[in-house]
Amino acid sequence: MPHPLEPLSAAEVSRAVTVLAAAGKLAPTMRVVSVMLKEPSKVEVHAGTGWEALPREAAAVLFDNATNSCFEAELNLSAEAVTAFRHVPGVQPTMTIDEQVECERAVLNDAAFADAIKRHHGITDTALVMVDIWSAGFYGNAEEKGMRLARPLCFVRSDPTDNGYARPIEGIRPVVDLNAMRVIRVEEYAPVPLPPGSANYASARVPNQRADIKPLAITQPDGPGFVLEGNAISWQKWALVIGFNAREGLTLHHIRYRDQGRDRSILYRASLTEMVVPYADPNPTQVRKNAFDVGEYGMGMCANSLRLGCDCVGHIEYRDAHLCDSRGKSLTIENAICIHEEDYGILWKHTDRRLPDAPEVRRSRRLVISSVSTVENYEYGFFWYFYQDGNIGFEIKLTGILSLGAVNPGEKPPFGSIIAPQVYAPNHQHFFNVRLDFDLDGIANTVQQLDVTADPVGPDNPFENAFRAKATALETEKQARAHLNLETGRAWKVVNPAVKNAVGEPVGYKFFPGDNAFPFASPNAWWRKRAGFVNHHVWVTPFAEGEKYAAGDYPNQSTGGDGLIKWTEADRAIADTDVVFWYTFGHTHIPRPEDYPVMPTAYIGFLLKPNGFFDLNPANDVPPSEPKAKPAGCCH
Ligand code: CO
Repeated sequence: MPHPLEPLSAAEVSRAVTVLAAAGKLAPTMRVVSVMLKEPSKVEVHAGTGWEALPREAAAVLFDNATNSCFEAELNLSAEAVTAFRHVPGVQPTMTIDEQVECERAVLNDAAFADAIKRHHGITDTALVMVDIWSAGFYGNAEEKGMRLARPLCFVRSDPTDNGYARPIEGIRPVVDLNAMRVIRVEEYAPVPLPPGSANYASARVPNQRADIKPLAITQPDGPGFVLEGNAISWQKWALVIGFNAREGLTLHHIRYRDQGRDRSILYRASLTEMVVPYADPNPTQVRKNAFDVGEYGMGMCANSLRLGCDCVGHIEYRDAHLCDSRGKSLTIENAICIHEEDYGILWKHTDRRLPDAPEVRRSRRLVISSVSTVENYEYGFFWYFYQDGNIGFEIKLTGILSLGAVNPGEKPPFGSIIAPQVYAPNHQHFFNVRLDFDLDGIANTVQQLDVTADPVGPDNPFENAFRAKATALETEKQARAHLNLETGRAWKVVNPAVKNAVGEPVGYKFFPGDNAFPFASPNAWWRKRAGFVNHHVWVTPFAEGEKYAAGDYPNQSTGGDGLIKWTEADRAIADTDVVFWYTFGHTHIPRPEDYPVMPTAYIGFLLKPNGFFDLNPANDVPPSEPKAKPAGCCH
């Protein structure tokens, strides 16, 4: 019996499109923005029985270029019926990959653009020009409201395999009407010459590569330790379902840990809901640069096929992503999801001084589920980790190529770093938001904010050393809005008040934030109005069917105020209910020459650790590794 949260298969995506067409809901001028699983209710999933009776359902977003209108459809695939269809007025859904390709062609075929690049830079061969679609955002221009726009950034290669990002065409911004798929104007600012040099990273173009790297092989002679049935995976005591969709990319579902003979629910759904990259430069070519990579570009749509470019070692299994192009044609990203195990050093160790010949040490192993998306110049790797001790980690790997600008010789721009002659990288931040729908041992959970504080000095604290952890139960949404606080070592704990552990306390999981940042732009900056989720690091909401994306369903060209900032204004009750924990985390990027021409990976993430969920260390039962022959120079 397939798990009901299995993502749609290629056949199901095609069936959804066929059903929409048969119902007359797909005009030839329409684009299919996304088709994804409409998930059954969690009560039905938790029941664990009767799954075969659940219909397979899909949710689709459509956009009609002829009428500039967005539609949402719901379908019962089992009954081959459209069950809901509605017009969503005044919104722009995610740009599709087809539009990226068509937009580039439209710009390259535009006479005014060709004229501008020739006049400014002497560029006559448009075959070497790269046009990255870049979202238009919204900056209060009433004429642009209600249009479907893009504001591409352009670059020029010196030859067909050159890294074109090293040569930004500064001062020229075409603006494209994506409905008509034509350039409506070419904005020209003070001309800046093309940077003189090129910079490449492709191995064929990097001379003198180092020659001292010896083979390092990971072998798993008995195969992997996990079992996959469709997208449902079990690994040691963990079980979960791997989802994927055009918007969020990788999603995880129904995460359980087998403890003393029973599967205990931990997280019901975990996903990246949005991210935004605001840039710091107020100059005209750069000032409107901010990208909502989930809501505007579609993190799943931008996923890599890891068939040829997976950097993992060991026994790898893959899962394909089944999407469709904007005309509804089936589109499979082969090997979009990578699944493998990694050795992770010491799990635990102790040597009893009185038993020196009997040290006890265990290797840590982790299950890694990952995908990588390329959003034009930038790469984001999304890595979920499951550990034997009940920890769950999430790590984003930021790499790829900086979004660059060109400057005049000798110019030192105040809002970025010169990273090569006449090439500069504007300062920017990356803000991510992850949604964690906890179901710890059941659906009704409570979130606590944990702050560590020192006791007042006095007769009860004569040595002035006392400190304690204070737990504040979060009762309402506004109370729950919070920032990290290093002074109190602030963390959060999700508990199930109805289920007690061996020491009589509610079972819990603790959230440990990692690196983070505050936004530097004013709260009134246009992008921040549209990205209200950056106003707090932590938000807690009661589960609501339509609340999945931190900046709202349609951030593309939105005027703002949607998503978490709006929902939590209702100040709903969040104690002892189906709670959703949202975490916003930011990476401040002041670029350096070493980020050029390609960035060494930067990492950001968080960790969830059981905290009174288990009665003792759940990894106490991990056996020692097989003793092995120890070649000279080997330690343990
Ligand atoms: Co960056």
